[in-house]
Amino acid sequence: MKQRINVVLREQPVEQKIVVQGWIRTRRDTGGFSFLEVNDGSCLANLQIIAEKTLENYDSEIKHLTTGCSVIVTGIAKESPAKGQNVEMHAEKVEVVGWAEPETYPLQKKRHSFEFLREMSHLRPRTNALGGVARVRSRLSYAIHQFFNERGFAQVHTPIITTSDCEGAGEMFQVTTVGKDGSRPKSDAEEFFGKRAGLTVSGQLQAEVYALALGNVYTFGPTFRAENSNTSRHLSEFWMIEPEMAFCDLSCNMQVATEMLKYVLSDVLENCAEDMALFDKFIEKGLVAKLKSVIDKDFVHLTYTEAVDELLAADKKFEFPVEWGIDLQSEHERYLSEELYKCPLIVTDYPASIKPFYMRVNDDGKTVAAMDILVPGIGEIVGGSQREERYEVLEKRMIEAGIEPEEYEWYLDLRKYGSVPHAGYGLGFERLVQFVTGMANIREVIPFPRTPGSAPC
Ligand code: 4AD
Repeated sequence: MKQRINVVLREQPVEQKIVVQGWIRTRRDTGGFSFLEVNDGSCLANLQIIAEKTLENYDSEIKHLTTGCSVIVTGIAKESPAKGQNVEMHAEKVEVVGWAEPETYPLQKKRHSFEFLREMSHLRPRTNALGGVARVRSRLSYAIHQFFNERGFAQVHTPIITTSDCEGAGEMFQVTTVGKDGSRPKSDAEEFFGKRAGLTVSGQLQAEVYALALGNVYTFGPTFRAENSNTSRHLSEFWMIEPEMAFCDLSCNMQVATEMLKYVLSDVLENCAEDMALFDKFIEKGLVAKLKSVIDKDFVHLTYTEAVDELLAADKKFEFPVEWGIDLQSEHERYLSEELYKCPLIVTDYPASIKPFYMRVNDDGKTVAAMDILVPGIGEIVGGSQREERYEVLEKRMIEAGIEPEEYEWYLDLRKYGSVPHAGYGLGFERLVQFVTGMANIREVIPFPRTPGSAPC
């Protein structure tokens, strides 16, 4: 029976016939047989296969198997006498499906640097670390959908091509057409959609439409930002989870975000224990304990003004000087979460001048009901707010931000017909995967990273 290796290794070793399909990690020959370590990607562990000399293709093929070759093996799963594994397989048939030229195959048994592996995004998921990241990423995605579904949120597919710049930062990739002769539209009116369009920077504005109809919704999709940030936390294409909730204020928003983070961390620790143990050992020592403490402890809450006071009182020289009104930089966020509080914190009520037009203006007229969640090692992982539900205030904020209210009539309409307090946030999916796996660079946690100057395949 065809089996995945994770199932074979998990099951009680009974003497049963199985078929496994995978790739050779190593081959070791002894007197009368060879040990083949086969990995099929279903889990970190390899299945040890014993291939006897008596197999018909032993001399012609099995003895020539090298790292990377693909095989289908039929045999009997047995209790293993070897240390560190409970099951091994005794091969009855080893079919070589594809050879891997040993002279040129770049993945050898030794550990490769992540920079080296980045040069080959088509092969790197075959390594222990990057294979583990892919499994953990997939599980996190599943857990997020599960979290929202258990709570009655509907998933909304917001558009990838859009004519609204949600964050108002002008960091959009433009979408246009090119004729066979290389010609481009000469004016906005000639554009394919009759006006300028771009790749979305956030599905939030459209998610708000559905929140004000369905109550609680979320989006989970790709997001594009043409910002020239070449850092270990920025991508030009990343995935974002954006819940949006009607009849919800800032404190309800913070509560959902906190519960979601704790839920997905618990899920991944339970369901990806083997991969997590690898990251704990080789990528970030103490990672599992760190995540457990995030689950157990309350997040610290403080306002932007309090955060600035803490930074001003810090016995530390920052590259970017601190004063009320500045946008917190990564060094500030990391000082607060890593050095001062050593746990996740939620910073609220930022100055209106540094936040987008849609955030609800507080009674002081100076700050908005924003909230960012900062975590040790990463900085900002979640950014959200209560939305401005008052028509006149929103219209005024748009004008101040240089946005034509006529362009966003549909968005303003939501404040005209049955407006309600509502709130939501964006969780950067890769930053979450980074936090969970301990990977230092965000380029390691997305299969095919896109960054300024780089989009190899
Ligand atoms: O703070 P941001 O820009 O918020 C929004 O886009 C809101 N519209 C979300 C909402 O309220 N629905 O981005 C949200 C999160 C950040 O906290 C960060 O985790 C991630 O998205 N993020 C990035 N991740 C990778 N690369 C980038 N260039 C990112 N920019 C933001």
